Amino acid sequence: MQISKSVKEKRRAKVLFVDDEISILKSIKRGFLYSDFEVLTAQGGSEGLNILESEAVDIVITDYRMPGMDGSQFLKIVKEKYPSINRIILSGFIEKSVAVDSLTRGLASTYMLKPWQNEEIEKKINHILGIRKTLKSKKLLDIINGIENLPTLSNIYSEFMEAVNNEKSMTEVSKIIQKDPSIATKVLHVANSAFYGMNSCSSISQASVTLGLDTLHDILLTISVINTMNWNSDQTRHLQYIFTHSFIMNALLPGFYREKHGALPFKHFPSIGLTYETGKIILLQYYPGRYNFIVENAGNNRNMGFYENELALGFQGHTHQEIGAFFLDYWNLPEIFVEASLFHHNPESSSEPYKELIKLLNFIDRLIDYIWYYKDTRIINLSSFKNENIPEKTLNQAIVTIRKKFNDHISILTTD
Ligand SMILES: [Fe+2]
Repeated sequence: MQISKSVKEKRRAKVLFVDDEISILKSIKRGFLYSDFEVLTAQGGSEGLNILESEAVDIVITDYRMPGMDGSQFLKIVKEKYPSINRIILSGFIEKSVAVDSLTRGLASTYMLKPWQNEEIEKKINHILGIRKTLKSKKLLDIINGIENLPTLSNIYSEFMEAVNNEKSMTEVSKIIQKDPSIATKVLHVANSAFYGMNSCSSISQASVTLGLDTLHDILLTISVINTMNWNSDQTRHLQYIFTHSFIMNALLPGFYREKHGALPFKHFPSIGLTYETGKIILLQYYPGRYNFIVENAGNNRNMGFYENELALGFQGHTHQEIGAFFLDYWNLPEIFVEASLFHHNPESSSEPYKELIKLLNFIDRLIDYIWYYKDTRIINLSSFKNENIPEKTLNQAIVTIRKKFNDHISILTTD
């Protein structure tokens, strides 16, 4: 499958606002008169769809509550007909759960709460346009186009999310996973890893009861990413490390965030710990030579990690950060997943609502690699981690967890 090359001629990006209130649309037109992007407006979903037939729109921003076709119904059609358009839903605070629901169903990449400030929305639009430009760069698309069949995220995952959002019973949710025996087998294999402290879980429904839906979700998401790929034994060894690292991240991130900032900002955000290294998985699967070259370089230069070596080797703009972000976006995962991949080595470049979270992701990422690297050394020097405002107790507990989890390691692939 070919992804279209970046547009050669420079054109102003187009943003379509959909709202049933004409006064809001007028104020949007006025407010963004001098912005870098062109604003189109539609008074409702069907007018919006008419505009999309003739205009190449980059972003749609729709109100949720509208008579007739509501915001999520409108986005559902946009997603089906124009999957590359970025979709944002606006909702009042009371309907926040509906907005979050649109995210988990992949209808919107993010939501914004009303009332909003023009500057806030302009910043958001410019940030999204910047990310779109990065993900359409020629060098990155050359890498993507070099992959014959682009991996897809299993349908089972979206069906699972839909069932969870509709508060279906555990039995019904388990049945969805069982529909695909290859996924079900892999989910059970992971569930039985020492990492989860279980060793005799024989059915998905048993795993869902013992591990809980959140953990089942995480395992399913991980399996869905790699399900259509084949792995040789050398690749499996590397993949094992990436997954162990990611599952440790996923276990630590919520606690670190709660300790520093209190309530968790997003229902499914901890899962970003499982997917932020997707670019490494893609490289390992489709460009194993390049992956090994980077790892070898990293082995010879211990002051530099994987990412720094990618930069040193000239892969700027198409490192594992951009490659992972491309796929997470392509798979319609919420914006936070895309940003976590795209900025985990440069957290300062992430957008405001996610910055603190991605900074923590970056901190824990370096910590896990460091502990792994010095796994055979009894006393390690943690000075470089000590002036980042993480309480010493949290840091020490994290180190114990990382060491233990590395020993427990998570088993992703059966060796058959
Ligand atoms: Fe990374």
